[in-house]
Amino acid sequence: MSSTANTLLLFGATGDLAQRMLLPSLCALHSDGLLEPDMRIVGTARSEMTDSEFRNFARGALEKFMPANRRGGTADFLNRLSYQQLDVKDPAGFSALAEKVGGPGGQLAIFLSTAPSLFETTIKGLQTAGLTGEGSRISLEKPLGVDLASSCEINDAVAEAFPESRIFRIDHYLGKETVQNLIALRFANVMFEPLWNSSYIEHVQITVGETVGLESRVDFYDEAGALRDMVQNHMLQLLALVAMEPPTSFDASAVRDEKVKVLRALRPIGPGESVTGQYRGGAVGGAIVPGYDEELGRGSNTETFVALKAHVDNWRWKGVPFYLRTGKRMPRRVTEIVVQFRPIPHSIFNGTRTVPNRLVIGIQPEENITLSLMAKVPGLDREGMSLRSVPLEISMPDAFTGQHRRIAYERLLLDLIECDQTLFVRRDEVEAQWNWIDAIRGEWKKEGLTPKSYTAGSWGPSAAIALTERDGVSWHE
Ligand code: BG6
Repeated sequence: MSSTANTLLLFGATGDLAQRMLLPSLCALHSDGLLEPDMRIVGTARSEMTDSEFRNFARGALEKFMPANRRGGTADFLNRLSYQQLDVKDPAGFSALAEKVGGPGGQLAIFLSTAPSLFETTIKGLQTAGLTGEGSRISLEKPLGVDLASSCEINDAVAEAFPESRIFRIDHYLGKETVQNLIALRFANVMFEPLWNSSYIEHVQITVGETVGLESRVDFYDEAGALRDMVQNHMLQLLALVAMEPPTSFDASAVRDEKVKVLRALRPIGPGESVTGQYRGGAVGGAIVPGYDEELGRGSNTETFVALKAHVDNWRWKGVPFYLRTGKRMPRRVTEIVVQFRPIPHSIFNGTRTVPNRLVIGIQPEENITLSLMAKVPGLDREGMSLRSVPLEISMPDAFTGQHRRIAYERLLLDLIECDQTLFVRRDEVEAQWNWIDAIRGEWKKEGLTPKSYTAGSWGPSAAIALTERDGVSWHE
């Protein structure tokens, strides 16, 4: 029997994520003929709405959040949609929902785009209504807890109703094309793997810079902070993909088995290996922006920036620092991975400086790969060869013209519908991530560390620069 879902049940169907990402992604999959013709999408939320009101609502979201040239199949797509009002705290509502999705027994993909505080109640309701049977799978959005203990509570509650093989934990970074391209780069080419270790790599940098500030998620962000909002999930997943051993295949167990080994090998962060910051007023992209506490309307000790020096304690990465940094109100939006190779062991170019090779993997907004190589400067040098570092650059959009770039949720929703877990996070990974993060927070508490102030529009507090400069390393800019 095929495990492709014939119904997608979307909790939080009127929420921000549904409007911005989920409905547009589903519509794009529909327009490209990637959804089974009879697959239905049932939205549910607390507001009262008829099917046709929900379709109008969805049309509005598509008009707002989908590029006009991708909205071709909208009318047809809307016909797939229906709606069931539900207050998840009211168990009776789930029977009506079960009826709407065609009763138990179907191939059902459930997407919880609601507050994690509602997960447990929702799952109980689904279970009582018989909607957690073998054909059902469930997908959960972050944040999965605020620490290891609360994450275990959520995971235990989900495990009451679904086996791990039917739980899809989303880290939307894994759905990004360029993040998957990192796997292609490492394992579909022969030339990187022999060099991908401490003999040839001096350090790795991972930067996720954002220009936005607090946005509308005031309470959530002030509770979370940069470490839990970005490092615990997205940045550790990037680190795991860079550092993992070659999996035997691109399959869910093989890939996740390798990632979890890296996450478990992370050495607890030591004193002086972390820097936190909070932005004060400044200018980003030419616009004057207020400071964090002005946006918040009160003082706070939440970090909006964090920089870490991490180590993966295994043979491959012995002595190779992984510098991580992420922050709000940085000078530009950028996600990139920098792999810094070691200097050549011996120079034959008398006195001419050679610059060690560097591989920069741009994840967003530019999707590109740049390898810096040493080359001869043209000319008839009489005093020895003149050399310069030159970039060998691949721009993904240029390399694949005519191929539109998919947003992360298109990939992830399709995999959920088709029941492929490779790009979803397994429980042991989430727990290893929290374990490492909890220890960092414990250290901060013990040391009474409070965030240092940085000007909005800068790359964080000066201590973040000192963190790498102490090792003779500069952040890539
Ligand atoms: C989310 C965080 O997980 O990722 C946000 O909660 C952050 O604070 C966002 O802005 C960044 O995602 P992206 O895809 O824009 O890099």
